[in-house]
Amino acid sequence: MEGRKNSRTTSRDGTSSTEKRRAPSVSIAQHAGGFDPDLGRLLERVAGLAPRIRKELPVRRDPATTRNLYGEQQLELDIWMNDRFVDALRDSKLVAQVASEEMGRVKEVGRGRFSVVLDPLDGSSNVKSNNIFGTIFGIFDRKALPARGMDLFAAGYLIYGPATTFVYATGKGVHEFVQGGVHPDEFALIAEGIRLPPKAKLYGIGGHRDKWIPEVKAFAGELERELMNLRYGGSFVGDFNQILHYGGFFAYPAQVGKPAGKYRLHFESNPIAFIAEAAGGAGTTGTERILDVAATGIDQTVPTYVGNRDLIDRFRSRF
Ligand code: F6P
Ligand code: MN
Repeated sequence: MEGRKNSRTTSRDGTSSTEKRRAPSVSIAQHAGGFDPDLGRLLERVAGLAPRIRKELPVRRDPATTRNLYGEQQLELDIWMNDRFVDALRDSKLVAQVASEEMGRVKEVGRGRFSVVLDPLDGSSNVKSNNIFGTIFGIFDRKALPARGMDLFAAGYLIYGPATTFVYATGKGVHEFVQGGVHPDEFALIAEGIRLPPKAKLYGIGGHRDKWIPEVKAFAGELERELMNLRYGGSFVGDFNQILHYGGFFAYPAQVGKPAGKYRLHFESNPIAFIAEAAGGAGTTGTERILDVAATGIDQTVPTYVGNRDLIDRFRSRF
């Protein structure tokens, strides 16, 4: 399933065999740099914000006075994180444009080769309850925003959970890192070439059952009868990460009166669909591959269904 995993056992004195052997850990910059040196540098900047973000979590918990372009109340943390990522991307000198869920527009930040789309704090309602949330990003190479998902060069996410993890994908595969394994602030490779497990275990569907379109109601019933386990955590990045590790089907669907769903194509659905495909899975709007959806505006939303390819194929055959 996974190409490589660091193995670690803990001895009686509490030190792990990894610490004793000081096994050489592979950093994000080294790993992604092997694919493209500029990508390695950019991802290192993105992941490098994680320790600072974690330190702010206990102190930036209040609502801000502003709303984002989807009319959602922003948190102080939404805005602060957005600004940290924009600054880091600008400082990298590798980026030309940035667009984020919080800014609602494309911002010119320099003359670099990359354009970056970003949901700085995905799952903001989980901040108050101390549940999983994260940062989702997509990277285009020499493409003006907004651009189609198909043209993504790389995508990834950070999860600020019990551990901070970083996942990135290129067309060549999906890889996962954890912060603090050997050195406190650094990320080290824990899984390389991740594939969705062929036997899908989990399903999760957002929105309201009474409002789901009939195809979703029927499919959810089938998955329940097939004894798949329900998981819904209220952050796309956390919910998708479970699918990546255990296999399954996750959706924020089209609903009656809301045919375009909730998830933002550029900041959420495209990067996650790109990662799903790179792990052997798929992503659909029901009628179209997510990555093929034409980019018409930065605020587009799409019904979003991602997961194991066989499940997505089965689901989309109903439309
Ligand atoms: O960004 C949108 C989002 O916060 C997702 O991360 C999450 O999956 C979803 O909204 C939660 O929506 P709801 O509160 O309707 O379950
Ligand atoms: Mn989000």
